[in-house]
Amino acid sequence: MKLNQKKSDKLFLKAQQLIPGGIFGHYKFAVREEGPKFFSKAKDAYFWDVDGNKYLDLICGWGPMILGYNNPKIDNAARTQYDLGNTVSVASPIMIELAETLTDMIDIADWALFGKNGGDSTQLAVMVARAETGKSKILKINDGYHGANGWMQNSSNPGVINSDSDEVLSVEWNSIKEFDEMISSFGNEIACFISSPYDHPTSKDNSLPEDGYWKQIQKKCSENNIIIIVDDVRTGFRIDLHGSHNAFGFSPDLVCLGKAMANGYPISALVGKDSLKDAANRVYFSGTQFFNSAPMAASKATLEELQKVNAIEIMNSNGEKLKEDLISAGDEYGLKMKVTGVPSMPYFRIEDQNKDFHIQWTDECLSQGLYLTSYHNHFLSVAHGEEEIDEIIRIASNAFEAIIS
Ligand SMILES: Cc1ncc(COP(=O)(O)O)c(C=O)c1O
Repeated sequence: MKLNQKKSDKLFLKAQQLIPGGIFGHYKFAVREEGPKFFSKAKDAYFWDVDGNKYLDLICGWGPMILGYNNPKIDNAARTQYDLGNTVSVASPIMIELAETLTDMIDIADWALFGKNGGDSTQLAVMVARAETGKSKILKINDGYHGANGWMQNSSNPGVINSDSDEVLSVEWNSIKEFDEMISSFGNEIACFISSPYDHPTSKDNSLPEDGYWKQIQKKCSENNIIIIVDDVRTGFRIDLHGSHNAFGFSPDLVCLGKAMANGYPISALVGKDSLKDAANRVYFSGTQFFNSAPMAASKATLEELQKVNAIEIMNSNGEKLKEDLISAGDEYGLKMKVTGVPSMPYFRIEDQNKDFHIQWTDECLSQGLYLTSYHNHFLSVAHGEEEIDEIIRIASNAFEAIIS
């Protein structure tokens, strides 16, 4: 099926004249030759492109949308605060209310600091860990994504230099053996271990922690004065509203939050244990827009609404249904669908088929109105109900049919 995408294509040509590549950052990788380039509006689990095509969205703005696009409760909370003032020369009391909401919700949180993007909170987290321990090295997981600052990127990426990651070490996910080796070589220099609560790399099956993994990590870190930073930027509020670490039974020192915490309004947070409050106070990290009060109001409303509607239960149950139904739909066409990760963030792969075949399937879904990717985990929201799951399965099945025939 070919989409009408005249306006999208025309706009993309114009964008290419004015914006390097036409689009940048992580949005760039998702642009398909046949597929939407620009949206005109969005509502609940759907968006419409500039040509009027409607998409059921399994990407949710790459994570922020968790209560449905244009959720009136969240938008009203933001609007009310905008009317009072957004960026003013002093902070709004809403900042304290949000800090209180977060410290009440996230079990390890005794304090909160705010930024704009997830990369602000991961950057701040390692600075706090360094300030506290007096050590400089960062230990991370191979392929772990923590944002776009120099040390977070592969040193072979354009614009990144080797010294950006001089102080970064990495180990294989779930490998206690590699972790132990790093500690015996560099334990005295490692300030922190930063990792998502489970492994969600691109273009690979996602992988949950093995039994006892995090407990062992916690013990080793505490014996070696290494701060545990959980990067919950992507997973936050999609696994456990008290912090994703709760679902995996351990207690980090710092938790980085972002994406879903305000249903799309720009804000991120670093929360931490009391023992790191002094270090967090000593570190200088800031941004002109960090004190925007409307996103803070949106975040408070989002966090309250997630608790009120029992968001985790809804996303888990619909995510499980999506997984089961998609595997059955694949079976009908002799295709083995593998679905990994947690129910609210599924990663899809067609086993026994090469990547090109998988891309053909995602492109076909796209052209039938299901917005998804071939290389990244997907996101469910509270607005993805049974009706949406059934529609995803209907489109996925049609796409299976189209590519095998
Ligand atoms: C696990 C994780 N950490 C950090 C980030 C960086 O967040 P941001 O893009 O908001 O800076 C991301 C973004 O995708 C992420 O998935």
